[in-house]
Amino acid sequence: MGSATLLLALSFLSVLITAPRAQASFKCSSGPTCNALVGYVSPNTTTLSAIQTLFGVKNFRTLLGANSLPASTPTNQSVAAKDKIVIPFRCRCSNGTGISNHRPVYTVQKDDGLYHIAAEVFAGLVTYQEIQAVNNISDANLIEVGQELWIPLPCSCDEVNESKVVHYGHVVESGSSVAEIAEKYGTTEETLLELNNITDPKNLKAGDVLDVPLKACTSVVKNTSLDYPLLLSNGTYAYTANNCVKCQCYSANNWTLQCEQSGLNITNGTCPSMECGSSGLSIGNSTSTTCNRTTCAYAGYTNQTIFTSLVESTCSSTNNAPSYASKITLPSWRWNFVFIVSQLVMLYLHHSQEPRFQHFNKSFRCHCQREEYIIS
Ligand SMILES: *[C@@H]1O[C@H](CO)[C@@H](O)[C@H](O)[C@H]1NC(C)=O
Ligand SMILES: *[C@@H]1O[C@H](CO)[C@@H](O)[C@H](O)[C@H]1NC(C)=O
Ligand SMILES: *[C@@H]1O[C@H](CO)[C@@H](O)[C@H](O)[C@H]1NC(C)=O
Ligand SMILES: *[C@@H]1O[C@H](CO)[C@@H](O)[C@H](O)[C@H]1NC(C)=O
Ligand SMILES: *[C@@H]1O[C@H](CO)[C@@H](O)[C@H](O)[C@H]1NC(C)=O
Ligand SMILES: *[C@@H]1O[C@H](CO)[C@@H](O)[C@H](O)[C@H]1NC(C)=O
Ligand SMILES: *[C@@H]1O[C@H](CO)[C@@H](O)[C@H](O)[C@H]1NC(C)=O
Ligand SMILES: *[C@@H]1O[C@H](CO)[C@@H](O)[C@H](O)[C@H]1NC(C)=O
Ligand SMILES: *[C@@H]1O[C@H](CO)[C@@H](O)[C@H](O)[C@H]1NC(C)=O
Ligand SMILES: *[C@@H]1O[C@H](CO)[C@@H](O)[C@H](O)[C@H]1NC(C)=O
Ligand SMILES: *[C@@H]1O[C@H](CO)[C@@H](O)[C@H](O)[C@H]1NC(C)=O
Ligand SMILES: *[C@@H]1O[C@H](CO)[C@@H](O)[C@H](O)[C@H]1NC(C)=O
Repeated sequence: MGSATLLLALSFLSVLITAPRAQASFKCSSGPTCNALVGYVSPNTTTLSAIQTLFGVKNFRTLLGANSLPASTPTNQSVAAKDKIVIPFRCRCSNGTGISNHRPVYTVQKDDGLYHIAAEVFAGLVTYQEIQAVNNISDANLIEVGQELWIPLPCSCDEVNESKVVHYGHVVESGSSVAEIAEKYGTTEETLLELNNITDPKNLKAGDVLDVPLKACTSVVKNTSLDYPLLLSNGTYAYTANNCVKCQCYSANNWTLQCEQSGLNITNGTCPSMECGSSGLSIGNSTSTTCNRTTCAYAGYTNQTIFTSLVESTCSSTNNAPSYASKITLPSWRWNFVFIVSQLVMLYLHHSQEPRFQHFNKSFRCHCQREEYIIS
């Protein structure tokens, strides 16, 4: 009797331990594609270049930018076990959910199992069932050495609370709480719970992958641009337009994307012109008088052309908050005129075509107290 109970308890325990967590897929109704992030906690000591290879990040600089690391960081930079590295990738929305767009691709090694690949190699960012589903594997136990598997990382392109955000897939650590995660990533508990369809924070478990929205800088990048929507969160940077342009996002710059010519050598030939019409300004340049500034901003690219846009701003007359003013070195500008001065003389009707999504317009009801629930 006693041993039977023990057996039952043990088997229950093992179910708890081995039960796959809920599907991690994030809601995604916009798109079709955008850039997104996941936080990868490396199980072993490794290097940045090994992580770049594992996740199929094309450009090492993109990996550095997503982690706010200096461009001079060497590729063999070592990464300690349990360190978190932010992985940038392209997200594709389809049928209401978002997953990484046919990357990364993992080649099955000797002695690999799907569970090991999902839970250990990719540190729980996907479940083995998700890998199985997107790769049409009928029997999870039948994978072959050398077989290529598409690893579907969870992501989204949706706006949150009508703001542009970068969706960040965060693996919940034991000992953390929803409140703590919200605080760390600059969002609110309510937003996190609603976005992740969690009615009770107590249901959140270590190992769950949370969709965390990171506020993104606004930009004038056109929706016809190959990198649209170019979403960058505070403190990160990215190279775009075939590495010709470097853009960065700082909250101190009023959440406006700042781009400049990268000055990098491009593999094939030179970068196309980056001037703003006949203004004499190139991307990143600005002229300013006391209270009137004109900036030549990056507005996107196609194969052969980089678009520019003259953005005029006047300084805010109501900017007397001392605590804020003391923190920023630039004057505060109110961006109130946007002139699209495309290099190509093209009739581009710039009516606001950006879709607005209002998924979260229901008020969130939480009957929970404001006590923190610590995840075990
Ligand atoms: C990285 O590579 C450089 C040379 O390419 C070498 O000098 C350095 O010791 C390496 N660092 C590590 C941590 O392996
Ligand atoms: C889309 O999702 C629905 C349920 O969410 C599912 O029944 C349907 O098979 C999916 N379609 C595709 C093409 O995956
Ligand atoms: C980490 O190291 C351990 C022991 O060296 C090894 O068994 C395991 O497969 C490694 N994990 C990964 C993801 O490489
Ligand atoms: C999986 O199977 C479906 C239908 O059987 C097919 O449409 C799809 O292309 C397959 N996907 C892959 C990755 O092979
Ligand atoms: C949210 O979760 C509830 C159960 O907790 C489920 O019935 C519902 O379908 C979920 N909604 C979405 C949009 O996933
Ligand atoms: C943005 O990042 C900087 C450091 O990179 C930090 O000092 C600042 O507080 C952050 N701002 C917000 C709103 O998160
Ligand atoms: C760019 O390439 C030119 C020759 O193709 C070379 O002279 C120059 O040093 C390179 N610049 C950088 C920054 O690598
Ligand atoms: C760059 O040039 C190489 C060889 O000259 C060619 O194979 C490659 O397709 C070119 N890449 C692009 C993006 O034009
Ligand atoms: C524009 O910016 C570039 C660097 O991005 C600089 O070299 C150039 O002198 C600037 N031009 C003007 C007119 O300010
Ligand atoms: C700002 O500059 C534009 C031309 O660049 C000019 O038309 C406008 O009057 C100026 N505004 C102020 C407040 O100086
Ligand atoms: C861009 O280049 C790709 C392949 O090089 C081509 O398929 C595509 O049609 C081009 N797009 C434009 C707008 O020229
Ligand atoms: C920051 O930008 C917003 C619009 O994006 C504008 O309404 C606000 O006035 C700006 N704040 C400052 C201090 O310039």
